[in-house]
Amino acid sequence: MLIHLIAAARPNFMKIAPLYHALKKESWAKPVIVHTGQHYDLNMSDVFFQDLQLPTPDIHLGVGSGSHAEQTGQVMIAYEKILLESRPDMVIVVGDVNSTVACTLAAVKLPANEAQSSLVPSPGATGQAKLRAQSKTKDKTNSTNSINSTNSARPLVAHLEAGLRSFDRSMPEEINRLVTDALADILWTPSPDGDENLIREGVARSKIQRVGNIMIDSLEMLRETIEKQNAFSELNLKAGDYGLVTLHRPSNVDDPQILNKLCQALIGIAKQVPLVFPIHPRTRKNIENLDLMAGLANEKQLIISEPLNYIKFMNLVFNCRFALTDSGGIQEETTYLGIPCLTLRPNTERPVTVEQGTNKLCNLDNLTENLQAVLSAGRPAKPKIEFWDGRTAERVVQSIKKLLVD
Ligand code: UD1
Repeated sequence: MLIHLIAAARPNFMKIAPLYHALKKESWAKPVIVHTGQHYDLNMSDVFFQDLQLPTPDIHLGVGSGSHAEQTGQVMIAYEKILLESRPDMVIVVGDVNSTVACTLAAVKLPANEAQSSLVPSPGATGQAKLRAQSKTKDKTNSTNSINSTNSARPLVAHLEAGLRSFDRSMPEEINRLVTDALADILWTPSPDGDENLIREGVARSKIQRVGNIMIDSLEMLRETIEKQNAFSELNLKAGDYGLVTLHRPSNVDDPQILNKLCQALIGIAKQVPLVFPIHPRTRKNIENLDLMAGLANEKQLIISEPLNYIKFMNLVFNCRFALTDSGGIQEETTYLGIPCLTLRPNTERPVTVEQGTNKLCNLDNLTENLQAVLSAGRPAKPKIEFWDGRTAERVVQSIKKLLVD
């Protein structure tokens, strides 16, 4: 069974790696990594492939940066060609980036068969398998809202990390999540709120399966290596004595006034507690355009670095006193590890992290107050969330096997 794993941007790589490794062990599965090229810098992409022991992507679409429509459109155009050539049995998309929605759209709209489109090449090596997959899924359901209800030759589309909602449609990721989940045939969710959101949106229960948090699989797979690193001491930081900062959301870094205030806040915090700030390219570009870099660099307890590889970065997470972020993944990783996280956003699509008490939503006005609370409190209890256990890839593989093989 030919299975495409779509990888596009930094947070995707730790989501496809455990699944790639698990599928590689199955005789019936042929996992193929498709890199759309949304992130292309060495330190935003290649180093993650090395750390996560992934091979060079089998297919690279080389799309790169652009406006939302450009990026989404370019990925769709490039990926449709690949789909027509290779006719996978399943396409797995992860997370909520532009490439997630683009590949979903291209796959679900793939011309059905030769009778319907002269563009479609012969079925190729996986044709038999696909027919099996179709007749199997067709038999299971005939409602329009059930697994692969069409009788097309298109691949099944599965979304890993489905159902997350911030209920904030000004976030590009929320649009990507809504569209992807409305179109995908299989929705693998990380937490009960994901199931509830999808059911409320009218998704058939038969399409939803809670499998857990795949990022925790990557963390556990590399735990020993992460723990052996000394990334924090190499930066002259002491374990448990510094804050780790990441910021890249357009809502925080694209508005000059907000970004300026944020930089001043970081300088202020660094006078009290050391901070390390690996800067995302989007953020760096905006900081440089506003001439704010010198101010940050002048604060001696504020360590600025390039984006770090997975293992070094996770070593900084493991050993920090708190994280200050707008990333989705870091909210989850800190929750899993029982580390306080201040999230500079008005909402989160990962409410489970707030419910567990490790994550607190903040804004620029209450940041200092929330920081003081974190600094004066002890470390939160380590939460236990069902299926955040390093075994999500196993559950996903079983789910695929049931759909395509059994
Ligand atoms: C994207 C995702 C976001 C995810 C984030 C993680 C969307 C809508 N956004 O945001 O959900 O949390 O990735 O990083 O899909 N750039 C480089 N080198 C790179 C990649 C980007 O220099 O390797 C620069 C480019 O100037 C680009 C900008 O960063 O214009 C933003 O990149 P883009 O992929 O558009 O969005 P992110 O902000 O990275």
